[in-house]
Amino acid sequence: MDNEITERVEHVLSTARSVRKKLDFTRPVSREDLEACINVAVQAPTGLTGENWRFLVVTDPETKKQIAEIYCDVLVQIGETRGVTLKPTHNALMARLHEIPCMVFVFAIGEPTEDVSGQVGFFGSILPAAWSLMLAMRARGIGTTWTSLLTSRKDEIAKILNIPEGVTQTVMLPAAYTLGARLKPADRKPAEEVTFWNKWGES
Ligand SMILES: Cc1cc2nc3c(=O)[nH]c(=O)nc-3n(C[C@H](O)[C@H](O)[C@H](O)COP(=O)(O)O)c2cc1C
Repeated sequence: MDNEITERVEHVLSTARSVRKKLDFTRPVSREDLEACINVAVQAPTGLTGENWRFLVVTDPETKKQIAEIYCDVLVQIGETRGVTLKPTHNALMARLHEIPCMVFVFAIGEPTEDVSGQVGFFGSILPAAWSLMLAMRARGIGTTWTSLLTSRKDEIAKILNIPEGVTQTVMLPAAYTLGARLKPADRKPAEEVTFWNKWGES
């Protein structure tokens, strides 16, 4: 791969930050863009369960309102019960979530078993697709946030969205075209601090 492509790919991978502000709440995200991103997402690895992902794009205002209410409820509760101070960025998205052009839910057909190996296999077959989706949207100027808190109210969400039994809800990506959001790599520990060689603890 030539250096320029490597640089571009690494730039997208390193700057797919959560975008909760600087979003264009007035411009619908095109179906063409969303389907192109989903076509990238379905190239993700999948386990023995096969292509068990399903994407559900919510654009209907009333449905978004109902979902946004649950989202706000959970987030406020997290703030109160876990003593977490919500950041202005969390509050910003919460305040306008009902206005987001679309909410993209990622579901997996099936349910995880309780053992670690089953869970790794199950979620390992769905979350890479969700992450690819977020990256593909980033590459097209669509800002998203990785959100999982709605899973704590999955039964209510299932009722609103007509989700059948035996389908597992994973993340919901609120999506909108970005308005000049300047996305930078996050401040993370470098590889040499988080990587062992040959045996645990050996650097
Ligand atoms: C498992 C998981 C669940 C998350 N759930 C939410 C969520 O429900 N709402 C939200 O605003 N952000 C959520 N986030 C996003 C984190 O808050 C985000 O990574 C953090 O804001 C750091 O920002 P960055 O993506 O710019 O590094 C979640 C992230 C992870 C990894």
